[in-house]
Amino acid sequence: MATTSALSSAETSTATDPLALVDVDHVRFFVGNAKQAAYFYASEFGFDVSQISDLTTGSRQSATYLLTQGNIRLLLESPLTPSHPAAEELRCYGDGVKDIAFTVFDAERAYEQARRNGGASAYEPRTLKDATGTVTMAGIQTYGRAVHSFVSRTGAYALPQLKQGGGFAPGFEPVGGFALNDFNRQHPCGLKFVDHCVGNVELGKMNYWVKWYEDVMGFKMFKHFDDNDIGTDFSALMSKVMASGNHLIKMPINEPAEGRKKSQIQEYLEWHNMTPGVQHLALRTDDELTSVAELRRRGVDFLNIPEVYYEKVWERVNRTLTQHGHTAVKEDHQRVRDLGILVDADDEGYLLQLFTKPLQDRPTLFFEIICRRGSQSFGKGNFKALFESLELEQNRRGNL
Ligand code: FE2
Repeated sequence: MATTSALSSAETSTATDPLALVDVDHVRFFVGNAKQAAYFYASEFGFDVSQISDLTTGSRQSATYLLTQGNIRLLLESPLTPSHPAAEELRCYGDGVKDIAFTVFDAERAYEQARRNGGASAYEPRTLKDATGTVTMAGIQTYGRAVHSFVSRTGAYALPQLKQGGGFAPGFEPVGGFALNDFNRQHPCGLKFVDHCVGNVELGKMNYWVKWYEDVMGFKMFKHFDDNDIGTDFSALMSKVMASGNHLIKMPINEPAEGRKKSQIQEYLEWHNMTPGVQHLALRTDDELTSVAELRRRGVDFLNIPEVYYEKVWERVNRTLTQHGHTAVKEDHQRVRDLGILVDADDEGYLLQLFTKPLQDRPTLFFEIICRRGSQSFGKGNFKALFESLELEQNRRGNL
């Protein structure tokens, strides 16, 4: 994903991927104070505060910061007026993800196709243009108030140019003299691209949204877990992973499952005005240990993994790897333990992953830092360990 070759492979894959999704163009957050949020994501996660659209650039309705790292582009948007749509959503949900936007070759065509497939419009196609190029965007409504925008780009705004530091869209200006950007260049966190993006939906609605991704977006089921796999004694969830036809984009969907105590998905929904939404973004690194060490040094608040987890992890993981003819985990075991990283294996290889605590005061959105060594799954074997840890945190918040 996220390489120049992805462009050509996506071009030839429209038979399996009718909307011809090229990449995650950007993820738009609605936040209460974009200026301050930009500092948080820059200092904690090493993002470059790269471009801005606000009063100084002629935007009278909202202020938006573009943060970049590798091929990850986050837009942090705050309303400047009470009538801006973000104002009402922030009141209901607090800070969170509004839009997971996909780069396509023709935004209008992808939008029309998605509409014919039964998708509801979030907003009609609109084109921003200047002398150097164009950006066309159109939006489809997905679960809750979340949106998938289709984005097509030409000229100076084309994706390869954007990846090289080019303009995001007409109306955005480069941010100059932001001191943290220099620091981040000297101390990289190594985050490369959005590996997957997970949504929480209401009890009983998972299959509805699975079908929606199949029908409207042309996605296919990629993996599937049930509550026997990932329940603990206390709470549970069910999860199905939807992937675009070319497997570039992965969108797991969770719903709560019955447990003795409250599911973390239910906790999310209760603090999200009982509205589905994005639960976590998984950001990919090539080197989990270096990334997590740097993020910890910066003060990122990760979930605490119970010590007992490390008593069994190597036997479990290496047994699976041996069974399928793969070499054992090459990362230093003691460092993995010291950094509190989770490891899981399947028939294709292994992965390392770790989850942050919520990124805002409400227990809603969090990040996952993931490194894949062959495995294309999502850490099923870690779900039990993760759940025990999450429930400890949930209990501390009095929500279990
Ligand atoms: Fe994940």
